[in-house]
Amino acid sequence: MTDQANPNLSALAAKTAQETGEFPNLMLKEIFEQPRVLREVVAGRLDQATNRLTLNEVTLTSEQLAEIRHIYIIACGTSSHAGLIAKDLIERWTDLTVDVQIASEFVFNRPQTANDTMAIAISQSGETSDTLNALRQARANNAYIIAITNVLGSTITVESDATINVKAEVEAAVPATKSYTAQLATLALLALYLGQERQTLTSDQVAEYYSELSELGDKIALVLSQPSLESITKAAQFTAEAKSVLFLGRGNSVTTCKEGALKLKETSYLHAEAFPALEFLHGPIALIEPEDATPIVALLPVDPNDDSMNNVFDRVKSYGARLVVFATTSATKSIQNADRVIILPEASALQTPFVTAVALQLFAHDIATSLNRDIDRPRYLSKVVVEE
Ligand code: F6R
Repeated sequence: MTDQANPNLSALAAKTAQETGEFPNLMLKEIFEQPRVLREVVAGRLDQATNRLTLNEVTLTSEQLAEIRHIYIIACGTSSHAGLIAKDLIERWTDLTVDVQIASEFVFNRPQTANDTMAIAISQSGETSDTLNALRQARANNAYIIAITNVLGSTITVESDATINVKAEVEAAVPATKSYTAQLATLALLALYLGQERQTLTSDQVAEYYSELSELGDKIALVLSQPSLESITKAAQFTAEAKSVLFLGRGNSVTTCKEGALKLKETSYLHAEAFPALEFLHGPIALIEPEDATPIVALLPVDPNDDSMNNVFDRVKSYGARLVVFATTSATKSIQNADRVIILPEASALQTPFVTAVALQLFAHDIATSLNRDIDRPRYLSKVVVEE
């Protein structure tokens, strides 16, 4: 692998200043583009008269789609996190089973691809070597390949049977933000389409979930307004001096925690890990350093009546951790002992991974700002990871 550092950094800095407009950096600018991007991704996909979703990019007929038995999702980094949320949606809405594979490990996992297999390759850039190598292997074994990418004409689009453009437009900051939520929305549309075509969802269900997706732009706009912005900045300042930040969630939120931890590592160079909240008690809890008051960042379950994390909160606080909780208004009643609470807009189970991901993007951005990091060009990283 090679780090493709830009050889002309001063020219890049000047160009960046021009491109950031009213924002201090490109990452924040791109975070704020998400309401518009999400509205554009979702718009115009449902025929209101018939309640049928159209996804003309998928070239398989309904009969061919009915023959698919299994799906492999192959991706790296942030794109693999979008794949984990997509697995949950596809398995919830269809009778298909889904494996999410880190693309560079695909070859080691003895994938059983055949012509009843679909492979979904997710890549913002469409050029990531590990993803392309895995795609080629799936293709050699007769899988039908769908590329989910932000770059039309990229290598991944040339080598796939179908391409769905995530329509996030150019993403210039190295940390992926708007491309992630655009991938999530695109994959949610694909999952809905599979449920429709395989008749595992009714047309009313398709319309209902589509309507939830249509609200995403407004939900994210709320995360990006006061008082949420200010409370995230304060929580970030409260956390920035830490040596290590541990993220806890349950269900789909574990994936969002992984994405939040990745964003924090790359922008702030802080150690960050994500765990399923109850699994944290089975060993990782020993990572709490009382002298450091290790920050624990928790995403509450979607169900406001689920207080299953309270026991974990009591334990971590008793060992000297600092607790930062992201929660919707209705869930706040179940929070005990938190040092900081960030209130997020009410969201359905489908909308929550978007709302919480954007909140954690801001959290990582604000910590990196407190630490004076080069947010758009983190050390050692490049926008596209390709083989030498
Ligand atoms: C994280 C990040 C990386 C990429 C990964 C895959 O912010 O940007 O983890 O997600 O290198 O890149 P793509 O999606 O271009 O294949």
